[in-house]
Amino acid sequence: MIEFNKVSYSYDKNRGNAVDELSLFIEQNEWIALIGHNGSGKSTVAKLMNGLLLPTEGNVSVSGLPLSEDTYWDIRKKVGMVFQNPENQFVGTTVMDDVAFGLENLGFPREEMVKRVASALKEVDMYAFKDQAPNRLSGGQKQRVAIAGILAIMPEVIIFDEASTMLDPNGKKELLETIKGLRKIKKMTIVYITHDLSEAAYADRIIVMNEGKQWMSGKPREVFQYRDELSEIGLEIPLISSIYSGMNKHGVKLEKEPLHMKELVDQLWKLSSKM
Ligand SMILES: Nc1ncnc2c1ncn2[C@@H]1O[C@H](COP(=O)(O)OP(=O)(O)O)[C@@H](O)[C@H]1O
Ligand SMILES: [Mg+2]
Repeated sequence: MIEFNKVSYSYDKNRGNAVDELSLFIEQNEWIALIGHNGSGKSTVAKLMNGLLLPTEGNVSVSGLPLSEDTYWDIRKKVGMVFQNPENQFVGTTVMDDVAFGLENLGFPREEMVKRVASALKEVDMYAFKDQAPNRLSGGQKQRVAIAGILAIMPEVIIFDEASTMLDPNGKKELLETIKGLRKIKKMTIVYITHDLSEAAYADRIIVMNEGKQWMSGKPREVFQYRDELSEIGLEIPLISSIYSGMNKHGVKLEKEPLHMKELVDQLWKLSSKM
């Protein structure tokens, strides 16, 4: 779905590359977590994926279409983005108007627009709020409306750039559950950018960035084994992963590394029933 071939991007010739000879493949329908410390190049990668930036060197292609001056407009329609601050994303006076905004810009006929807005709001379970003012919603609900605005355009990829950062723990959970739910009902490639490793655990695969390069890529459980190295490049190790490694050091062996609290609790129950 997305291919980077030795892609570099530099904002300023006098400074190093923000993205440095990066090559990566993202399959159709994959849920990727893109992680890395502040300044490691994640947002630059996101902007190269949807044609907001064009590479200084190398090639990007999205669903077979090479990114260039001639195609970036088409690529933007294929790749939607949800940003950190839901407040800055609102333009409509009602939830429904807001979701319709992108379609209006693309010149969709009214009838088609009404249909798409209703179906997108249902997909994120916000249809009941369609006539409300967006500013009265919770953070998690606002992000769900932002997602609906993108779903209405029917992109092939959605990028979430630190979309959970401003949300409280409930809002974060709500966002992740919404993405999980969407993946059950439709084909969709997800790029979920975060510096929170515990959120990255939900992805099919994690790509770790460091200094504009891909530092590692693998299934969450594989990546989490490199605890010490991850923390050396500025990432905070999830509590569950630290508990697991602490228990391991003290000779309490679990069957496998738990990725979520429920997995940890289930394994602890199993262990205690054997004692
Ligand atoms: N608009 C910009 N102008 C100049 N430098 C930038 C700009 N945006 C990002 N950078 C620099 O590019 C590097 C990568 O930034 P970014 O892609 O935002 O990383 P991340 O999203 O991982 O925090 C950083 O060194 C950052 O300072
Ligand atoms: Mg960023």
